[in-house]
Parts: sequence; C-alpha cells; structure tokens
Amino acid sequence: MTDIRKEIQEIVEEIRAHVEFQRALGVKTVEIPSPEKRSARVAPLSTKKPAAPSAQTALTTATEIPDQHAESKQAEFKPVTVPASLEVLRQEIGDCRRCKLNKDRKTIVFGEGNPKADIVFVGEGPGFEEDQQGRPFVGAAGQLLTDIIVKGMKIKREDVYICNIVKCRPPGNRNPEPDEVEACIGFVRQQIAVIRPKVIVTLGNVSTQHLLNTKQGITKMRGIWQEYDGIPLMPTFHPSYLLRSPGEKKWVWEDIKQVMAKLGMETPKK
Ligand code: URA
Repeated sequence: MTDIRKEIQEIVEEIRAHVEFQRALGVKTVEIPSPEKRSARVAPLSTKKPAAPSAQTALTTATEIPDQHAESKQAEFKPVTVPASLEVLRQEIGDCRRCKLNKDRKTIVFGEGNPKADIVFVGEGPGFEEDQQGRPFVGAAGQLLTDIIVKGMKIKREDVYICNIVKCRPPGNRNPEPDEVEACIGFVRQQIAVIRPKVIVTLGNVSTQHLLNTKQGITKMRGIWQEYDGIPLMPTFHPSYLLRSPGEKKWVWEDIKQVMAKLGMETPKK
C-alpha cells in the first residue's frame, strides 16, 4: 500500500473511532455551520508541524470538534489548515458574519501585496480609511508604513504583504475584543502559512501579543527577534503610535534595519 493510501486509511479509522466514541456519549447529530458562520479554522494543538506549502491542502467543509487542549495558554503556535491560495482563503471568508464587527464595517480588509513576499507586515485592524477603501494601511498610519517600506527599505510596497489581525474595522478604532480576535486570527495565520515569508514584522501590541500568544508589551519586545512557526518575527512599534510619538521612529528604524540585515539587504549607514 502506498504511503498516502496508508495515511488516508489511518485518518478514516481515526474518524470512525471518534464518531463511535461520540455516539457512545449520546451525541446523535453534528451541526455543520454555513461557511459565513464558521470560525477561522485553527487546528487543535499538535506537536506536528503543519503541512509545508508545497503540500497545500484545499479548504474542506469538514467540521472540527475543538480539542480541550486547544485553549492552552502555553501554545505559541497553533497549526492551521493551509489553503491552496490566498484567493481560496478570501473566498472561504466570504461575506463574513463570524463576529459582531460585521455590523458596522463597510468592507472586509483582507490584506494585499505579493503572495510570495519575503516580508509580511501584520497590523491590528482596519481604520476608517481602510474600511472605506478595502485596503490595509492606507490612512495616515499607512502612509508612514509606506514611507518605512519605500523610503527606508528602498523596496516597493507591492513587494511586501500587508495584513491585519482582524479584517473588519472595530468601531471608533478601538482595540479588537477577544471574541473578535478569536473569530478572525486563524485567517492571518492562514495567510502567513500560504505566503511563508522569510520575516514577519508585527506592528504594535495587538499583532505581537496575539500572534505570539504572549502578554508581554511591545516596549519590552520590540527589537528582539522572536519566532512564529519557524519564521523569524520582529516586533516593532505601530505606525499610529509613531504619529503620536514621532521621537520613537528611531527605534522602528533600528528594528527595520535588523529585518533588512536578516534578508541580506544593504542597510544605509545613516
Ligand atoms: N492600523 C492597522 O493596524 N491596520 C490598518 O490596516 C490600518 C491602521
């Protein structure tokens, strides 16, 4: 029997055993929510690495019954199903109603940029301008981020990928609430899993803390390399914070220079 057949047979047996166990517990039906209602699928904690992008699996409609260990606060990384492409993932998100942010949003801001980017920037969530245009980081903070990329790093904005932890604007630009992050974070994880960049840059507290599952503040973490699913991750200040505290820009530039050095890019002397 080929390896793949053996693997499929094992999976089928596991599913059968699971269903029989559920039946023994008295479970008679399993509700399969419509795609719009389904949360981003974050797989239960596992010691296994997720499938490599070359073995990308298309999204299926299978229901996952949450594992009791999935909520563990120790988790640094929860493996996700790797969609076949960013387009497939966007389709899966659909006209999302998974959390209450759908009520006030105008547009879902999925993310944009090079699907094969070496760098992925992750922000918090769309602001007013992003919600209007359906594009990430196009307001005042976005202009600053664009300057960092174009004028600082000397690359095109289209060469990187930019996205957020939540895809819909929190009213009044407040921080996303835990249930909103819970409903959405699987999508940024899936975006990263598809792109597999060489470096991730998290912008501010929200993206840093949620991607790394830490409560450490950005002031302590910025400038220190972290790792997300085997990918080097550099936390730095959010551009909105820099607009309020321009004196802190120098730290972001230090962090970005580390990113450039990691990618073998020439860094300006001054
Ligand atoms: N702030 C964010 O975190 N993301 C955006 O897309 C815009 C502003």
